[in-house]
Amino acid sequence: MGDRVATVDGHQALVNRVAELRSLLNRASYEYYVLDAPTMEDAVYDQLYRELQELEAQHPQLITPDSPTQRVGDRPSSQFNSVRHNIPLYSLENAFNTEELESWQGRWQRIVPTNDFEYVVELKIDGSALALTYEHGVLVRGATRGDGTTGEDITPNVRTIRSIPLRLVGDRIPAIVEVRGEAFLPLDVFEQINQEREANGEPLFANPRNAAAGTLRQLDSRIVAKRRLDFFAYTLYIRAGDGNGESAQQLDLGIEMNAVEESVEHPRTAILTPKSQWDALEALQHFGFRVNPNRQLCPSMAELKAFADHWEQARTTLPYLTDGLVVKLNSLALQEELGFTQKFPRWAIALKFPAEEAPTVVEHISVNVGRTGAVTPVAELKPVSLAGTTVSRATLHNADFVAQLDVRVGDTVIIHKAGEIIPEVVKVLTELRPEHTHPFHMPTHCPECAQPLVKPLDEAVTRCVNEFCPAIVRGALIHWASRQAMDINGLGEKWVTQFVERGLLHSVADIYDLTAEQLQTIDRMGKKSAENLIGAIAQSKQQPWSRVLYGLGIRHVGNVNAQVLTQAFPSVEQLAEADIDAIAAVYGIGPEIAQSVYQWFRVSAHQALIQRLQAAGLQLAGETPAASTTSTPLSGKTVVITGTLPTLKRDEAAALIQQAGGKVTSSVSKKTDYVLVGEEAGSKLDKAIALGITQLSEAALLNLLSNI
Ligand code: IVH
Repeated sequence: MGDRVATVDGHQALVNRVAELRSLLNRASYEYYVLDAPTMEDAVYDQLYRELQELEAQHPQLITPDSPTQRVGDRPSSQFNSVRHNIPLYSLENAFNTEELESWQGRWQRIVPTNDFEYVVELKIDGSALALTYEHGVLVRGATRGDGTTGEDITPNVRTIRSIPLRLVGDRIPAIVEVRGEAFLPLDVFEQINQEREANGEPLFANPRNAAAGTLRQLDSRIVAKRRLDFFAYTLYIRAGDGNGESAQQLDLGIEMNAVEESVEHPRTAILTPKSQWDALEALQHFGFRVNPNRQLCPSMAELKAFADHWEQARTTLPYLTDGLVVKLNSLALQEELGFTQKFPRWAIALKFPAEEAPTVVEHISVNVGRTGAVTPVAELKPVSLAGTTVSRATLHNADFVAQLDVRVGDTVIIHKAGEIIPEVVKVLTELRPEHTHPFHMPTHCPECAQPLVKPLDEAVTRCVNEFCPAIVRGALIHWASRQAMDINGLGEKWVTQFVERGLLHSVADIYDLTAEQLQTIDRMGKKSAENLIGAIAQSKQQPWSRVLYGLGIRHVGNVNAQVLTQAFPSVEQLAEADIDAIAAVYGIGPEIAQSVYQWFRVSAHQALIQRLQAAGLQLAGETPAASTTSTPLSGKTVVITGTLPTLKRDEAAALIQQAGGKVTSSVSKKTDYVLVGEEAGSKLDKAIALGITQLSEAALLNLLSNI
């Protein structure tokens, strides 16, 4: 299609169209992600995006850094380069109550005695600070705070954050603009990431801040693109001039907004010459950034206190974490006059919300063994009320964490809870430590099965590797019966625990040998419940092969990987006999997953398990049905594939579509929703065009799927 434009209307028409598409798409994305007020239909967006993508693929010289196609992430880099910040990223002094705020006010007023001022009060977002540089309106660099003077260049990762404009909005954009703000993970995304990590047996992120910081430092920006980071801007530095031959890197930007104002060659509107932090926030908004709407101008301490009281309560209703307010003097002239101490601006301070932290005493340290055999030390605490709940246990994560903190039984510790997160011990008050305490050591043997524990040198996790450990068996059974796996109604943690204790269940295959008579010997299990459970077990035999594979709980095989694998290996024999390379060759399956699957099938106990499941009549082969749990852009859609795709084989593309809930059929009809078009597409494409069916390129398909 792009070529037709090029030949008929010439090169200029093509260039114009690409620019137009870029601008339409950037505008739509801004309305969606920043303003939260979408105006463009998703399908229209997808279509325009596809058109741009195709034109860019045919004419790579037309790709610009602000093209929306540049947000999907790049190949992994081996490391990040250091960047020096022209203006250091200062941190803030903390105030914990209004007396401390008043004392701060007294201090700055002694330096500049005035009563003619107002404060801008903003929420303090609990994320990770970013410094963004725009040259002639285009994002050229995104860097972490680092130590405040030197950070890391993480531009490819920053590009994936949808609420960060790749090009500033407006026509009179200063030559160089530097923007600072906070990147953060919304709470629901944070929870989702941790659920996935748990399913994959990976260590959990302790809180959204760590998760955001960890994500930003990911070397593979394609992973960052999937994590849905968000960004609120709060600081704006502007440098006028034509910017020719100079880059932000070489310029001493200074904080001299006045210099901009006086620049005769570059007359600016009020928006571009902010005199106050309030105007700067508005200017940031005009440039296309998301600016936190929960801000207020406070002419006196009284308003400030009222605002603080409100947010101390209301913060729990926000979909992201805030740990306080930032109080800034509004006038930039006043800010400049006050300047900085060694560490902090004199013109701003953080008012921290009362911490969701409390001291308590460690009564015992127990050790929990999870489904994957991961052994987690847990502090059993004297119950304490914290952020609305009573807390009596807190995770100590792993051996390294305990050693670092040196938590001991008898210690008084500070526990911390933020948002929905599991409480955590953050500090030991060693000055309160009683005599005769002992450092905690991880047990050398499993507390449940007494077998030796294993700690790989390169992992923080200690594991029990005994397949028959009751804790692992329990975990495996609960996982097997869970909704996303075999979905055995009624077989939850309570019964599993009892059945294992009574010696009725040692492995998931035993489930299929249970009888109603046996079950009725268990306390509080009546005839009816026993029969219902046996019925649910029998029904679960119809669950498809992909769920069986997921239910086996092989490390790194979550339900998506299980579907991908069962598409590629439609029977257990094929998967069990495949070598590592064959498994790793499956699209979407990395070497680590392949290794894990391969090893699993090499264990003779696992081979025996498969045989028993087969004998019990479970589905260990067969088609993988479309995923229906989450809705995706392809849920319920019918797709026809035609032509040769650039990188995917046809069956790989089909597997991806089915996995996303779509259906692949072979002939085009009115019921077809999309045609996936490759090179040398034939009559199917002609028919699709005649019927007005939306075309997808491979890149467009992958892009649609990457947002799931
Ligand atoms: S102003 C010199 N405003 O809090 C100005 N910071 O403890 C310093 N933060 O490193 C920053 N929300 O990462 C400012 N509305 C806000 C903020 C904010 C979060 C973070 C920022 C900074 C840290 C200071």
